[in-house]
Amino acid sequence: MSLAIITDPSKLLEVVNQQKAAGRQVGLVPTMGALHAGHLSLVQQSTLGTDFTVVTIFVNPTQFAPTEDLDQYPRDLQRDVELLSGYGVDVVFAPSVNSMYPAGASTSIVPPEVARPLEGELRPGHFEGVATIVLKLFNLVPADVAFFGQKDFQQTRVIADMIRDLNIPIDMKVCPIVREADGLALSSRNAYLTPEQRQQATAISQSLFHIKTLVAEGQTDASELLKAALQILADAAIGQIDYVSLVDPQTLTPVTQVSDNTIALAAAYVGSTRLIDNLFLN
Ligand code: PAJ
Repeated sequence: MSLAIITDPSKLLEVVNQQKAAGRQVGLVPTMGALHAGHLSLVQQSTLGTDFTVVTIFVNPTQFAPTEDLDQYPRDLQRDVELLSGYGVDVVFAPSVNSMYPAGASTSIVPPEVARPLEGELRPGHFEGVATIVLKLFNLVPADVAFFGQKDFQQTRVIADMIRDLNIPIDMKVCPIVREADGLALSSRNAYLTPEQRQQATAISQSLFHIKTLVAEGQTDASELLKAALQILADAAIGQIDYVSLVDPQTLTPVTQVSDNTIALAAAYVGSTRLIDNLFLN
C-alpha cells in the first residue's frame, strides 16, 4: 500500500479502525516534523514491529510558551513526506491547528507528578500541552504500540505515567537516542545552530559522557560529578545552563550518590537555541 496523507481527524480514526478490524497491529509515531534520523529510527521500529504505521506531523502550539520558538519551528511537510515514503509508512497525519484545536476547545490534561521538576519548572505549561496533544493523538489513532524517543526522557516519563493513570490501552516503546558522530543528539532545533555553535553544542553530550566515564572509574558522588560536567560546559563557553542533573529515572528526583540506575539530564542554551540531552550511567 502506498502512503496516504490525511489531514482530517475523523478520517484518520476511520482509517485506523478499518485496519484494526482487519486484525492489523497499528503503530503510532507522534512527531512535530522536520524529520531527522532520530525520528526515522522510531519509524523503523514501528514498521518492523507492527503492520500499519501512522506518523503524525503537527507542531503543537499548546506545548510552546509565548516566548518560545513556535513561529520559527522548521516546517517542511513535502520533504518529510518524501522521506517517509521510503520507510514503509502507511499514513502521515498532518492536521491543521484549527482541526486539532477548534474554537472553544478548552479541555486539557493535568500532567502527572513527574512533569513537575526540570523541564516542568523551566517550561511552565509545556507538559500540559504535550500530555493533551498526545492523548488526543492516542484517541485518533487507537494504536497497539506508540513509539517515543529517549531524547525527551522526561516526556517519556510523563506519557508513561499518563498511560498508567488514565488506563490508556496503548503499549509504549522508548527508543534509544540517535546521535551525530561527535555525540550531539539529533534534534530538529539543531538546524538553528551556526557552524560555530554546532561545534560548541557538542559540549552538552560531552559533559554527560564525561560523567559516565567518571562513574565507570568509581566516582559516585553526585556533586563531584556535576562539578566536572559544569566545567566542561563552562570551558565551551556555554552561557546559560538550565540544569545538569543526576536523578532517579522513575521519580526524577535528584540523587546524592549515583547507582546503576541513575540518569544524567542536561538542558542548556547554545546562542539562543535551547538543547536537551540525557544519558543513563550504567
Ligand atoms: P519531536 O521533537 O518532533 O520528537 C518526536 C519524537 O522523536 C519524540 O518521541 C522524540 O523523543 C523523538 N526524537 C527526537 N530526537 C531524537 C533522537 N535524536 N533520537 C531518538 N529519538 C528522537 O517530542 C515531540 O516531537 C512532541 O513533544 C510530540 C511528542 C510529538 C507531541 O507534540
